[in-house]
Amino acid sequence: MMKFPQNFLWGAATSSYQVEGNNSNADWWQWEKETGKVNSGAACRHYELFEQDFDLARSLNHNAHRLSIEWSRIEPEEGKFSQKELQHYLDVILALRARNIEPIVTLHHFTNPVWLSECRGWLNPEVRTYFARYCNFVCRGLAEHVRYWITINEPTIYYSHSYIFGFWPPQVKSLFKAKLVEDNLVGGHIQAYRLIHKIYKEKNLPEPSVSIAQNVMAFVPCTQSLKNRLTAALRHKWYNLGFLERIHKNLDFIGINYYSRQLVDLKGYGISNFAGDVCQDNHLPVKKNSLGWDIYPQGLEELLLKLKKFNLEIMITENGICTADDHLRWEYLSAHLKNIYLAMEKGVKVSGYLYWSLMDNFEWDKGFVPRFGLIDIDYSTYKRTIRESAKKFAQVCKTGVLEV
Ligand code: FCB
Repeated sequence: MMKFPQNFLWGAATSSYQVEGNNSNADWWQWEKETGKVNSGAACRHYELFEQDFDLARSLNHNAHRLSIEWSRIEPEEGKFSQKELQHYLDVILALRARNIEPIVTLHHFTNPVWLSECRGWLNPEVRTYFARYCNFVCRGLAEHVRYWITINEPTIYYSHSYIFGFWPPQVKSLFKAKLVEDNLVGGHIQAYRLIHKIYKEKNLPEPSVSIAQNVMAFVPCTQSLKNRLTAALRHKWYNLGFLERIHKNLDFIGINYYSRQLVDLKGYGISNFAGDVCQDNHLPVKKNSLGWDIYPQGLEELLLKLKKFNLEIMITENGICTADDHLRWEYLSAHLKNIYLAMEKGVKVSGYLYWSLMDNFEWDKGFVPRFGLIDIDYSTYKRTIRESAKKFAQVCKTGVLEV
């Protein structure tokens, strides 16, 4: 039996673009229309149905919920801030508070307003000022009701998917540009971090707790050759730690999103080899999610131990599986909880666990096919159905006890 601390945060995460629907002022919306690849459309209609969704979260004993604010709703045109949309998010946060659910609020979760993407997006050095101006508006409006802020979700995924590999808008492939974006994300975070603290001081509110949500992966050498071991270590340093090392003095805790393992098999000596070669031979086989990502719960314990050096509390801001097999979902979830517990026993301070996601939703360039939710969505009726795995997790949320 594993007993988690009394004040542990238990819940799930979502992001505005993936669940709300009709975010027609966002760069992703424009990209969907231009490429025809996917169509987020009404998503889960969470923009209208949030009360119903939070009733379900409460019925599942969640005491925390991570959500994001859609910048393109708040500032649909440059410099024009919408009081109406700010009020909407205030209503969302108050709806959580009314259910005794702690809101964890993300300010940037991949999407940008179209006007920003039209002026070079995160490549434009002005973006730091734009982002700070938006954060200022949102934070002043919500500060009284929010303690936890995530400034930027997965900066490393954002700049690598959008500016190195070019899968996501604006589909750029340039290491040089990716570096500029990374620098602006670092600057954007640091400015937002300081600003949020300043606003709380001015308002005489208790100190906020501010972080990013950093995507981390277990990099495992597929053979014990020196080149594979070295590359795995390099990837860990660049991908998992690089961004954190640049901002750790401006973090109150570390938010991490952990999903999977990468089996490292270096096949050549170019930059793309170092950054991306993966073993295709299925050495060291493990079960996979429906997108083919390896399931590797022990990687989470190992990573938590490696992050201990920052001497900051850690919150698991995302961890989850897309699968048609709900038994596997519970196997995944409980195995990851077990590994968090093992790390905590070794002295890592973990403050909470947020499963990705509360409900099935729009999975970016993969559309609606992957099912990550604790709650199933029927996209023809928008009916919500709680999955069995969610009920098992609800027991842990209620008691703090994991039976393994
Ligand atoms: C993370 C993202 C989140 C979701 C999950 C599956 O990288 O932060 O929006 O897409 O992956």
